Amino acid sequence: MRQFNNKVVLITGGSSGIGQATALRLASFGARVAVAARNQDALDATVARIAERGGTGLAIQTDVTIAEQCRNAVAKTVERFGQLDILICSAGLSMRAYFEDSELPAMEQVVRVNFFGTLYATHFALEHVKKQRGSLVSISSLTGKRGIPSYAIYGASKYAIQGLYDALRLELRKDGVHVGVVSPGFVDTPLRTNVLGPDGRPWSNPPPPPFRIWPVEKCVDRIVWLIARRKRQALIPWFTGPLLVLDHLLGDRIGDFILARKFPPMHSAPGSWQGQGSQG
Ligand SMILES: NC(=O)c1ccc[n+]([C@@H]2O[C@H](COP(=O)([O-])OP(=O)(O)OC[C@H]3O[C@@H](n4cnc5c(N)ncnc54)[C@H](OP(=O)(O)O)[C@@H]3O)[C@@H](O)[C@H]2O)c1
Repeated sequence: MRQFNNKVVLITGGSSGIGQATALRLASFGARVAVAARNQDALDATVARIAERGGTGLAIQTDVTIAEQCRNAVAKTVERFGQLDILICSAGLSMRAYFEDSELPAMEQVVRVNFFGTLYATHFALEHVKKQRGSLVSISSLTGKRGIPSYAIYGASKYAIQGLYDALRLELRKDGVHVGVVSPGFVDTPLRTNVLGPDGRPWSNPPPPPFRIWPVEKCVDRIVWLIARRKRQALIPWFTGPLLVLDHLLGDRIGDFILARKFPPMHSAPGSWQGQGSQG
């Protein structure tokens, strides 16, 4: 895709999963890609894979929960490449537990990574993306579109991202900045094996997803589509769009019925999974 040639992209969460796969794809289109996350080895490996494909990458060790480190990630990207066209906020942390079982520090950490990580990166990137009339993109989730049992706090962090980006889209229309939100269902990445339980520790044997798991490249296809066409929203899979509309028109009744059965309460021992009946 020629339109990405020479563009400068900063991807938080670029060390793994959707962020990493997007970095590799955009680099293959000729973009110069900075990847930001905590794991330096994984970042270096991503940059090495970019270089193997003849691309140019930059690794910037960043904890997105620390505003100053997000400022640094943006500054280093601009220092190295002279501009910033596209910010993709993909850093994220998942938690699967009913709200009443969940401990506050665990819930706070999910909000810090998912919401504040997006907010900080967007805040510091904005002036540069504005200069380029570029794109601000956030990787949200279908849990940011529809309340789902056991995803109360994860979903809340994604609803917050949706609210932030919906408002930004209108605020920045006059500046020619594209603002888009990508909302995937289950995608085949390490996120689910690291999903936190109610005490904030990853489940040793994570709950099985009750719906289809989509390949990461399918998700990258939608991210590329969203940026290339400057769309405001991409859902994965696409047919969840009409389903959400239908569900809403029917007073959420069908969705409530299905979701309550697909995501029953989890009777958990700390750090383990003893879910009941969610194999559906
Ligand atoms: N996979 C799914 O089923 C799915 C579905 C819907 C939405 N999403 C969303 O997609 C995004 C990407 O997730 P993924 O599936 O690609 O998961 P992943 O493979 O686990 O990647 C998560 C990324 O976030 C980074 N990260 C986590 N905490 C961070 C922190 N404090 N500071 C900086 N980076 C941090 C991780 O890097 P380090 O550990 O190196 O910091 C990693 O690069 C997330 O926002 C997630 O909520 C995923």
